[in-house]
Amino acid sequence: MHIAVLKKEVLQYLDPKPNENFIDCTIGGGGHAKAILKKTKPNGKLLGIELDKDICVKPGLTQTERLILVNDSYTNLKKIIEKYTFGPVNGILFDLGMSSWHLEESGRGFTFLKDEPLDMRYSLDNDLTAGKILNNYSQKEIERILKEYGEERFARSLARKIVQERPIRTTFQLVDVIKKAKIYSLARIFQALRIAVNDELNNLKEVLSQAIDVLAPEGRIVVISFHSLEDRIVKNFFRTSNLDILTKKPTTPSQQEIKINPRSRSAKLRAATKT
Ligand SMILES: C[S@@+](CC[C@H](N)C(=O)[O-])C[C@H]1O[C@@H](n2cnc3c(N)ncnc32)[C@H](O)[C@@H]1O
Repeated sequence: MHIAVLKKEVLQYLDPKPNENFIDCTIGGGGHAKAILKKTKPNGKLLGIELDKDICVKPGLTQTERLILVNDSYTNLKKIIEKYTFGPVNGILFDLGMSSWHLEESGRGFTFLKDEPLDMRYSLDNDLTAGKILNNYSQKEIERILKEYGEERFARSLARKIVQERPIRTTFQLVDVIKKAKIYSLARIFQALRIAVNDELNNLKEVLSQAIDVLAPEGRIVVISFHSLEDRIVKNFFRTSNLDILTKKPTTPSQQEIKINPRSRSAKLRAATKT
């Protein structure tokens, strides 16, 4: 089950009040969204965007007068808002990356702990899979992905090994290849592939300025990221935009939260207000 990360802090910085409207750009299972909706009664609305159709149809979150669910990419934020004539927008939330459902139930190879096909897509409409990258991309391109998105020091030797060993069909086959290359940071390699498959860093760069454009004056933006590559993008964007930064340093989970929800351990929250 997915436990919403930094929920108290999200509420503190988004500061939802009765009848205000919010956008959750990565609604997932709706942990944050439900908490926001509680605070915006009786008439505040929430627009929830989720790229993964399989998450959108999961029970638990249903469309109501106050909750609009949209199966799309947040990169289309402006178009979605126009289509639903949603606003004024008092706050926007991004809780980036994958949800626990992707790791535990999707069967799409997001984790090295299970033997699954190398897919790693959030949207099955995406033509690119991790398998296609590993089996069809050039050694140079694979090296770039591992270095840029996984910050892997031994990207060159691993890329060479991958090309030698292909075809690579499943996560466990990939784990064997990584171990043969004497690399032990499995998480970073899986992260690199996931970012590349879903073009996550470019998506984030693309959406942040849209988010600020659609926010009402005094509107709040909160972004939770899970690795330094994302956090750097958010930090630089906040610095160079017309925003009052509310978090000089990113907010991180308490030891107690990490104990209850280990997935939260790398979370960093940054928040700002539109001036
Ligand atoms: C960390 S989870 C969000 C969990 C949610 N805050 C909750 O409390 O349940 C991130 C979600 O964002 C979705 N996602 C990833 N890229 C997206 C995109 N470009 N547009 C919309 N949703 C996206 C993923 O499918 C995933 O469900």
